[in-house]
Amino acid sequence: MKNVIILGNWKANKSIDEAKKWIDEFTPLVTSLPRHVSLILCPAFHHLELFITIKTIFALGIQDISPYPSGAYTGEISAQMVAGKIQYAILGHSERRKYFRETDEIIAQKVKETHRASIKPIVCVSEMNQASRLKELVPDFEDFGTILYEPLFAVGSGQADSPEKANEIAKEIRVILNNVPVLYGGSVAPDNVSTFILQEHLSGVGVGGASLDPMKFANLIKNACNPR
Ligand code: PGA
Repeated sequence: MKNVIILGNWKANKSIDEAKKWIDEFTPLVTSLPRHVSLILCPAFHHLELFITIKTIFALGIQDISPYPSGAYTGEISAQMVAGKIQYAILGHSERRKYFRETDEIIAQKVKETHRASIKPIVCVSEMNQASRLKELVPDFEDFGTILYEPLFAVGSGQADSPEKANEIAKEIRVILNNVPVLYGGSVAPDNVSTFILQEHLSGVGVGGASLDPMKFANLIKNACNPR
């Protein structure tokens, strides 16, 4: 059975108290995982300490990282500041490209910073040219990175891409980036997750909205563990 990654991204949601409530509700729902399934959760930065202290079933990630090392960069979180505490970083999400004008060059800089700190980058792409540009700017990306393919129309819309189409695109990305693992994201829900997991070229899913509700996320994980 192939390895499957389920990546939850809370985006800019939840107070500390709301995160505690989420953990209390989620924890009894998913107590173990099959060996081939990995869960990564990227809550917001201020939740990380909570997840580290409580020790949950998740590997932890951050939703962004500074393109600069530690130093005089007000408001930024450098990779060195969180190294050893988190394992993954989502980089270049379409919302960051859109609202914060992140370019492929800035994202490549972030990839290099995370890699230097032994944090694994998960780079979001919505178009093939973003994958090609990543290959040019970080030629060895496939040795340590993962791609999260998210078509713009599908993010937060309730209209997921067709699993076959996502599989085709993942196949093309894997040609450009030499068999890099590719996840699909965009309106993944408990009732459609299996169809994505079953696609040959997909190594898992990225989940935004459905990860905010503990019951929904637990159901999604259960369906991903036994896809049919
Ligand atoms: P969504 O978000 O699941 O709410 O569509 C996906 C994402 O942006 O990663």
